[in-house]
Amino acid sequence: MTLIAHMTDLHLRPRGLACYRVSDTNMLAERAMRSLRALNSTPDALVITGDLTDRSDPREYALARELLSRLDMPIYMIPGNHDGSADMRREMGHFPGISENSEGKIFYRADIGDVQLIALDTHLPGRPEGELGQEQLSWLDATLRDCAKPALVALHHPPALSGIAHMDRIGLTDAPALAEVIGPYNHVERLLCGHLHRPIIAGFAGKIMTLSPSTGHQVVLDLRENGPAHFNFEPAAYFLHFHSPDTGVVSHMAYVEDFPGPHDFFADEGVVWPGDET
Ligand SMILES: [Fe+2]
Ligand SMILES: [Fe+2]
Repeated sequence: MTLIAHMTDLHLRPRGLACYRVSDTNMLAERAMRSLRALNSTPDALVITGDLTDRSDPREYALARELLSRLDMPIYMIPGNHDGSADMRREMGHFPGISENSEGKIFYRADIGDVQLIALDTHLPGRPEGELGQEQLSWLDATLRDCAKPALVALHHPPALSGIAHMDRIGLTDAPALAEVIGPYNHVERLLCGHLHRPIIAGFAGKIMTLSPSTGHQVVLDLRENGPAHFNFEPAAYFLHFHSPDTGVVSHMAYVEDFPGPHDFFADEGVVWPGDET
């Protein structure tokens, strides 16, 4: 079996600074890492789908290196709109895949147990929207043609629209071209995305897109066309993508916070459950 954790949108800040003055993203990211370490099954890898930092500041990357060094698993990352491809390559170049291309966008393929991760870069310098570009799309097509292992395709900007208007306006500009590339490949099991800071599951090009909440603040669920861009502190979470030959890829959302329990299932006195008759 293969178990892959998917976290996103850490928005790390220089030590001591909060994000938008009220979101202590550094503490919240640390809390998320702690919950990952406390899982009863250790993931084979962690995938971080961008907005690792808030301003692509070297101090933010330094904090990311420190935080991630406490995890005992391979860590794969891609940039979001808040990071920079060149900055991430310079600051995080020792993480797998990052330095595969010496310049331009960060994209790579990696085998994790029985599945393959295809990591893509949607960062557009100075822009909140995302774009893959023709070079990356051609590489994606060739990569999917070469290897038929179950594929998880990771990219920061979700290609499917969410109905949250202010976020959809800063989405992926070349989503139709991505649909054309991945549509024919049945082994694309998941698209792993971030950027929206909400748990969202949607279909795209006949595939399943799972969008993970942020480890920090979340975007308010507001489906009005003129809904304001607001955030709140709904529960932080991440995804665990489990694969076995029997199940295929199964995606579980895992909460960062602790909740009451676990408790045993007990029948009331005098009640015998079916199957417990003996
Ligand atoms: Fe973000
Ligand atoms: Fe983003």
